Amino acid sequence: MFPCCESEQQHLRTSTVMCPSVTLALMCLLSVSPGTSLPTLCVLSGSWRNELGSNMTISAVNAEGGFTGSYFTAVTATNKRILVSPLKGSQNSKSQRKQPTFGFTVSWTFSNSVTVFVGQCFMDDNGEESLKTMWLLRQEVGSPFADWKATRVGTNVFTRIK
Ligand code: BTN
Repeated sequence: MFPCCESEQQHLRTSTVMCPSVTLALMCLLSVSPGTSLPTLCVLSGSWRNELGSNMTISAVNAEGGFTGSYFTAVTATNKRILVSPLKGSQNSKSQRKQPTFGFTVSWTFSNSVTVFVGQCFMDDNGEESLKTMWLLRQEVGSPFADWKATRVGTNVFTRIK
């Protein structure tokens, strides 16, 4: 795939490709047959919901791939009242991939736990994005003897709500 198309598309978030020079335009044209829309970039920024009903919002991704956001979980392993928590992450944007890999950490405001998520942003044939993730939730325990029960693992799939 031609990087020129991908980087142009990242800005546009549409299936339209605009290339800055004739050479680049040619390269872009060669990568797609007439009448076929180009696959669009999967973009992390926006609001997402997972199958548990948890919501998160991811800010714009900066030039280094870094981002921040907020997470409102629908469930908790505690008996505390759930509050919105901050998240911080980065995507691998070295090569402007169309379906980037990423990771982020949620530092829970209402418990002493942290969750790390890793995943990949996918775009299906209908232009619907999803984030396929795996997570590790580390709970605070009183001593190393309780370490064995301190980490939970799971998967979440997020779909865009905004
Ligand atoms: C806690 O219970 O200490 C903090 C909340 C943890 C919520 C977990 S993180 C992984 C999973 N995915 C969610 O959306 N919520 C749970």
